Amino acid sequence: MDANTVAVIGGTGDQGMGLALRWAVAGRRVVVGSRDAARAAAAAQAICERAGASAAAVSGRGNLEAAASAQVVVLTVPFAAQIGILQAIAASLRAGQILVDVTVPLEAAVGGAATRMLGVWAGSAAEQAAGHVPAGVEVAAAFHNVSAYALGQLAHPIDCDVLVCADRSETRAALRPWVEAIRGCRYVDGGRLENARTVEALTALLIGLNVRHRVRAAGIRFTGLPARSGGATSSRRADKQ
Ligand SMILES: NC(=O)c1ccc[n+]([C@@H]2O[C@H](COP(=O)([O-])OP(=O)(O)OC[C@H]3O[C@@H](n4cnc5c(N)ncnc54)[C@H](OP(=O)(O)O)[C@@H]3O)[C@@H](O)[C@H]2O)c1
Repeated sequence: MDANTVAVIGGTGDQGMGLALRWAVAGRRVVVGSRDAARAAAAAQAICERAGASAAAVSGRGNLEAAASAQVVVLTVPFAAQIGILQAIAASLRAGQILVDVTVPLEAAVGGAATRMLGVWAGSAAEQAAGHVPAGVEVAAAFHNVSAYALGQLAHPIDCDVLVCADRSETRAALRPWVEAIRGCRYVDGGRLENARTVEALTALLIGLNVRHRVRAAGIRFTGLPARSGGATSSRRADKQ
């Protein structure tokens, strides 16, 4: 397991491939995960070709192998597939890893609108994920508000803050370098995992804004925060928010 490598489960899809591409461009090692190892290898090859000379090693693996390969494991699959994929990779996950859930529980998952949210019994998709990982695996929520379209436009920096939510401040802080590796993204300490309820719902709003204003990459920026908006990194009070 390598601390400088990120595994992207569902990295063959729009959001996962976009994140993988940006990390590859930043020189990070990326393992693309898929239910089909050949599909993962093809996606890794496509990422390498687009990222060019600056790309560090990008490889493709089946989801199980990918999930075992990195300290940070990013989950970018449709909400309807989230629990099934977590069950499928559970045997590979180990205490000390961080699972970054990017899932948005849109009504589209059950045939409805992409501008509406589903109610999730656990509170949010990220909290649901936390109920399906082995003990000692920390779950964080991040990258929900960055559009796949923007991630794919390599000539342009991303114009979006990235709220990172997790119950431990150390988990949130560990993800700062992965946010800041993506040009234009600003890390914002988003507090406890339960705040993912709000962060996930912002994505439905952003999709509606894209439609209404005929754009493809509406994002969010917060004002009034310190320049490096890490928040208080270790106080117990900060962990309760
Ligand atoms: N697209 C965006 O702009 C965006 C932005 C923010 C958040 N998100 C969230 O990120 C997640 C991924 O979005 P996406 O647009 O990248 O989705 P996607 O392209 O439809 O799917 C991503 C990957 O998930 C796997 N997958 C698809 N259907 C599956 C199923 N039924 N069972 C198991 N695995 C399945 C596939 O990988 P393999 O077939 O290779 O296994 C697929 O390439 C979603 O939860 C979405 O809400 C998306």
